[in-house]
Amino acid sequence: MLLSSTEMLQKAKAQNYCISAFNVYTFEMLQGVIEAAQELRAPVIIQTSVGTVKQLGANYIVAHVRAAAEVNELPIALHLDHCSDFTIISDCIRAGYTSVMIDASHFSLEENISRTKQVVNFAQKYKVHVEAELGKIVGTEDNIIVSEKEMRLADPDECLEFVEATRVDSLAPAVGTAHGIYKQEPNIDFERIERIASMVSIPLVLHGGSGIPEAQVKRAISLGMSKMNIATEIRNVYSEALRNYFRQYEAENDPRRYLVPAREALKSKVKESIRMCGCDGKY
Ligand code: G3H
Ligand code: 13P
Ligand code: ZN
Ligand code: NA
Repeated sequence: MLLSSTEMLQKAKAQNYCISAFNVYTFEMLQGVIEAAQELRAPVIIQTSVGTVKQLGANYIVAHVRAAAEVNELPIALHLDHCSDFTIISDCIRAGYTSVMIDASHFSLEENISRTKQVVNFAQKYKVHVEAELGKIVGTEDNIIVSEKEMRLADPDECLEFVEATRVDSLAPAVGTAHGIYKQEPNIDFERIERIASMVSIPLVLHGGSGIPEAQVKRAISLGMSKMNIATEIRNVYSEALRNYFRQYEAENDPRRYLVPAREALKSKVKESIRMCGCDGKY
């Protein structure tokens, strides 16, 4: 079933687990994620960055995810990750994305509210879920680059004001996680998660999922995170498996052979994240 993220996130929030959302970059990776989720009976969010939309085409992506949703029983949502461009967001919604993120976190609060509201108004007509960001999450995400100096954690009072003003469906507050793999342990502000969760009633989203130790992921979920984004870890294991394969069989020219170990490596990483989030067996 291809659904909006709303149903699955509301259910996860009510039952205190988390939906894992995976950034895929190719159709082969999409199949690997779907297979892993199906095998663990986990509802799943497939997400693509703007770069991937430009590379593969929104229509192609939607067609593949719809096909996956037809042949598998699992609940799937298709989400556009970190997008600051209204035209791209509306194009993806028209193409059939069921969930989008408007990332206007680099603007002032006022401007973030107004840009997010514009997306919420448009998405409502299509019953599409809207996620937004407050504060600034460190790291590189497509062409949005935030250095450690520029990082800003989300203010709980502003979160409440933002959610009431925009009527957004889920919120990604910056709480100390970062995009990419951490050089040291992440410095997550758990009290801030708890405060924000006590103030807003919509599901919260944890970005920068790659590299967070399991105990910290579980603590963040217990305090109110209902979605966790994972990108770098799965592309790392996928690429590493390809490199290993070609080191051994450097002349291999059949993609049906060399992609097999890459897909298997991706699947086992995806399963690890799904289990960490506690969404296995949830449908
Ligand atoms: O966290 C990684 C994001 O998905 C970035 O995606 O490689 O398409 O810029 P990208
Ligand atoms: P990682 O690359 O750290 O997994 O972050 C993923 C993310 O937040 C995508 O929006
Ligand atoms: Zn992110
Ligand atoms: Na990370």
